[in-house]
Amino acid sequence: MADFKVTRYRIRADYNGSRSDSPFSVVFLSDLHDMSYGRENEKLLQEIRNQSPEAVFVGGDMIVGSRFPRTHAAVALMDELTKCYPVYCANGNHEYRLREQPEKYGDAYAVYSEMIRSFGVHLLENEHEKLQIGRMRFTVWGFELPREYYGRWGRVSLSGEQIGKAVGRPEDDSFHILLAHHPAYFDAYADWGADLVLAGHYHGGIVRVPGVGGLISPQLQLFPAYSRGMFVKQGHRMIVSSGLGSHTVRLRINNPPELVVIDFL
Ligand SMILES: [Fe+2]
Repeated sequence: MADFKVTRYRIRADYNGSRSDSPFSVVFLSDLHDMSYGRENEKLLQEIRNQSPEAVFVGGDMIVGSRFPRTHAAVALMDELTKCYPVYCANGNHEYRLREQPEKYGDAYAVYSEMIRSFGVHLLENEHEKLQIGRMRFTVWGFELPREYYGRWGRVSLSGEQIGKAVGRPEDDSFHILLAHHPAYFDAYADWGADLVLAGHYHGGIVRVPGVGGLISPQLQLFPAYSRGMFVKQGHRMIVSSGLGSHTVRLRINNPPELVVIDFL
């Protein structure tokens, strides 16, 4: 497996006029798809350690949700990460698929989710938890989109109100990080009240076209919006990772896998 790159973003985070007393970093992992950089992901773990993060956020699709699900590398990675950092994890469409179709995939999701929870992973299935780093208070939300939002034909609409019904409403007491696997719905995430959305799913658009962006989404849309990078809308931000792995079609052109590091200033 080729190496990954580190992509760094800087954010001035505040809520209610207060902000952190000193800068700190967090890392964001997405779309590993059970790949391993070195034995048991030792290269990825070493790079994460180099960044000295205060927390690790995981945006889903860490496994491969196929007829023979692959979870070993993702589980081993979570085991190591939780020994050093608080880890907050949301599901992507691959985990969601395993959980929603036990008749097809058996108990694969139950085994996976119980295992990573036993390590101490905060697995957020349309749930939220508080996180304090220095003086900075966060609420971390994990939002799951139902299967129809990942279909190939047509776009299903989503509103901030629908998100509120699924997970609840953000209050004015903290900085709200929304782990939402699918980046296409930034308008709804912003409308709901996310201060920072962390998303993945598109794998950077598979092929990065210079000056244009990602070529294609997993739903086969050409030049999808939000295929990779940081986007800002009326003070709401979304960071989209091009992901760490791939599956089925293992193709990336001009589009290296990436580990995202976010510096909160
Ligand atoms: Fe995905």
